[in-house]
Amino acid sequence: MAQDTLTITDNRTNLTYSFPIEKETVRAMDFRQIKTGPEDFGLMTYDPAFMNTASCRSSITFIDGERGILRYRGYPIEVLAEHCSFLEVAYLIVFGDLPNEVELKNWTNEITHHTMLHETTKKFMEGFRYDAHPMAMLVSTVAALSTVYPEARDIHDTNNRLRQIKRLIGKMPSIAAMSYRHSLGFPYVYPDNDLNYAENFMNMLWKMVEPKYVANPVLARALDILFILHADHEQNCSANVARSVGSAHADPYLTTAAAAAALSGPLHGGANEEVLKMLDEIGSKDNVPAYVKKVKDGHGKLMGFGHRVYKNYDPRAKIIKWTAEQVFQVTGRNPKLDVALELERIALEDDYFIKRKLYPNVDFYSGIIYQAMSFKPEMFTVLFAIPRTVGWLAQWQEMLTDSEQKIARPRQIYTGHDVREFLPMEKRASAPAAAD
Ligand code: SDX
Repeated sequence: MAQDTLTITDNRTNLTYSFPIEKETVRAMDFRQIKTGPEDFGLMTYDPAFMNTASCRSSITFIDGERGILRYRGYPIEVLAEHCSFLEVAYLIVFGDLPNEVELKNWTNEITHHTMLHETTKKFMEGFRYDAHPMAMLVSTVAALSTVYPEARDIHDTNNRLRQIKRLIGKMPSIAAMSYRHSLGFPYVYPDNDLNYAENFMNMLWKMVEPKYVANPVLARALDILFILHADHEQNCSANVARSVGSAHADPYLTTAAAAAALSGPLHGGANEEVLKMLDEIGSKDNVPAYVKKVKDGHGKLMGFGHRVYKNYDPRAKIIKWTAEQVFQVTGRNPKLDVALELERIALEDDYFIKRKLYPNVDFYSGIIYQAMSFKPEMFTVLFAIPRTVGWLAQWQEMLTDSEQKIARPRQIYTGHDVREFLPMEKRASAPAAAD
């Protein structure tokens, strides 16, 4: 019997089937061979939330959850965070290899010249209420870019796809900064092409009346490292959305907007904002034990803890903790770090969290850094969306160029009524009088 096969006996028919095992998976479609008769549709697999389902083949990001390993295109995240710029890593994620000096210079130059937004987009953003959540502004504005670049619908043209990818990577910081300035009632700051990606973002966020913005190099590097850490994470919820929406051949702007909408959820990228709310609620180290008890009693979750894949420490959280120390040397220590460290210490000793393999994830410490850099919590997920745009677009492009992929359309287990006789209005039971 061949080794790489799975043999199954259907006890309803005593028939035996053998399916090939490839890369530790079996094809769900093979189960459709298992029938009780020629009329039978065959078996499906049932996997709510895709806990154990590979939806694609991908060469972009590798995660080993048990060993806490994360690699982009084979390079460990620790090495990339130490030696690369974000745009260098963005090139790696999109094209598959690290750029040489000329490639990086050209790539950086092209992204830099795509940071401007059309003036109509600026007017579109002015339509939001002053207190509009920046994440909702970002999702809506990215979708609106679809009206500015209608040629983006030609998703099968390689050069056209790449032009939109550069536009989105270049414009995300501009949209993010404009949403921030809008919330403060400050005038928008236009991009400064003399600055690198992180410095220009800081310029568009924080330039006031000085003739030229000068970014603090420690804070700029910290942002660049945070962008690297958030750039991609294989088939996370928002990447799955990008692949699903993109599989219908929607344009990259609408695809990215949909992915950003998924990221905004508090269980996903919105968790970093929730962590700060949680730390504010706890208030001080002394209150941590009582809060942990509340979570263990089933009242809420420890935001920034746990992960579908990592059952060990999220390698990004370790690098973020190191980055926090660099930032605090400039901004002063964020006192919330002490509460977070105590929360981590207690949780990692507590059987409830150990048994469930709950460790700090990428969102646990990032918000503390962002707050120390004077970002409001509402901006934290926007700071996640900027770099993750690279991952979404790389996953989108890989899906489009994968000959095995087609429009995503899952099946279901139907639990509703069987066919029912239609009742005209006069024959329907009168509904109880509606409560006032
Ligand atoms: C991101 O997928 C990615 O890669 C995402 C991401 C990326 O880069 O794209 O890494 C970014 O989204 C990080 C996750 C940010 N979210 C949070 O920090 C929110 C808090 N975390 C949880 O909601 C949860 O851990 C998830 C959503 C992250 C993972 O959820 P799972 O895999 O569906 O796990 P689960 O909800 O089934 O939990 C298993 C058990 C449950 O207890 P029991 O029912 O077995 O008794 O662990 C418990 C859960 O109640 N649990 C937690 C917990 N997370 C899970 N209990 C307390 N606090 C938590 N944070």
